[in-house]
Amino acid sequence: MAKSDSKGKKSTPVDLVNRGVNAAAAVDENGHGHSHVHGSDCQHSTQLDTRSLTIKDREDSLRKLESDLSKREIGLIEREIKLLSLQQEIDRLRPLSGLYRVVKAMATERKLESMLEVITRETASMLRCDRCSVFVLDTHHGELWTQVAQGLDGMRTIRVPLSGTSVVSLCARTGRTINIPDAYEDPRFDPEVDKSTGYRTNNILCVPMHNRSGAVIGVFEVMNKDVGTFTQEDEEWLQALAAVAAGLIEQAQAYSEIEHFVDKTVETLAQTIDKRDPLTAGHSIRVTRYSIGIGDAMAISDDEKDVLRYAAMMHDYGKIGVPEAILWKNGRLTPEEYACVQTHARLTYELLSNLPFTNRLAHVPFIASCHHEKLDGTGYYRGLKGHEIPFLARVISVSDVFDALTSVRHYRNRMNIVKVYEIMESGRDNHFDPEVVDSFYGLPCDRVMRVMESERGSQIPEEVDLFKNISWLRLVELCQGAKPKRHEEGLKELFYRVYNANLPPDYQELD
Ligand SMILES: [Fe+2]
Repeated sequence: MAKSDSKGKKSTPVDLVNRGVNAAAAVDENGHGHSHVHGSDCQHSTQLDTRSLTIKDREDSLRKLESDLSKREIGLIEREIKLLSLQQEIDRLRPLSGLYRVVKAMATERKLESMLEVITRETASMLRCDRCSVFVLDTHHGELWTQVAQGLDGMRTIRVPLSGTSVVSLCARTGRTINIPDAYEDPRFDPEVDKSTGYRTNNILCVPMHNRSGAVIGVFEVMNKDVGTFTQEDEEWLQALAAVAAGLIEQAQAYSEIEHFVDKTVETLAQTIDKRDPLTAGHSIRVTRYSIGIGDAMAISDDEKDVLRYAAMMHDYGKIGVPEAILWKNGRLTPEEYACVQTHARLTYELLSNLPFTNRLAHVPFIASCHHEKLDGTGYYRGLKGHEIPFLARVISVSDVFDALTSVRHYRNRMNIVKVYEIMESGRDNHFDPEVVDSFYGLPCDRVMRVMESERGSQIPEEVDLFKNISWLRLVELCQGAKPKRHEEGLKELFYRVYNANLPPDYQELD
């Protein structure tokens, strides 16, 4: 159709040839563009014969030119048609490819928050609209919450009451799709929502998510279609997406709950050990926080971070088998007592191995039990060397020693951090992995101080904020006497004030 339409608008090949002949004759004969001789007038003289030959040649070449041009134009038109139909095909398949991307994301993202983030982004692009929010029903609080709302200031959680007047609440209560083509003309839309967000709602489509038992577990809301309003087709695509999402969101919710339960259980187990002795309370949590700091600095994966978190949290779990008389002893341990303390690493392994860790976390018991190993093989309890010691255990090892030195113990107070640094340095290459030590040194000073000061269980002093622009190593350098730069002036004194605050009156800085 397009081919003949387009061709119909053009001159016919014969028209073109005639025009070409006349124009050619005009230029040749008169040079001024005023032809007085037409092809038909020139057929009876010699001059005319020559001319007619020339004209014939020209006719041929013009016909050829015309034919070439036509072919090219036809080719271009055909290409255009192909592109158009490809574009139409792409447009037709856009929701399908969007659905594929959303489903793929849902299948690969374990965590609910990241899953919701991908769903909202892809759905907005799939339905060609400005905004998408996935609201999840919180039955405990009778609310619908969403963590991602495009178009607002970044990510935040919005909660709306299930009994409220919003279209989302209405959709969740009725379990029916709501398509509002003109928000301000529809009584179901509450303009107050726009007033509070500064957003202008033109049209809305809300689709409920049902679980297998038919109960509403959330709502998909899309707003402001790029062109026009949401169609019946949009409704169907969103319903299809909501149906797939419902199951996966429910799964992710269950996963989050289990993960939260496991996290809290592990934390509680760790605290039962720490709490046996008020002086070591919080040790496992602080070691975990230092370790995660190092893990962040060394850009470990999310899975590794989970393993690190559990292993760090549980590293001293075996201390449950060490008598309190030894753990709490005020003074030097006898060799027998020290040997007894050392058994905790083996016990950690044995006890944790009884826990049914998933494949992803399968190495937690081994890693946790390696936190007293040393690079040179003189550690315990296996006497592993160098790379035989798992990397994450090398991370825990640095955090463990640092926390022990910077915490109050039965037999001494917090150690001066210059001394702490010297001890850490003396362990470089033989006890500690130097890369891990350097990563720890590179941590922002305020991050280290926040963990360190959590030892006292009191509020972190506000001044800690002032340390965010220097590394932990730089603080040590300042404490060693380095000349402070302009923005570092007074930090050393401030650090000591925070570090040594509330020390007992009999405090002595021990070596
Ligand atoms: Fe330990």
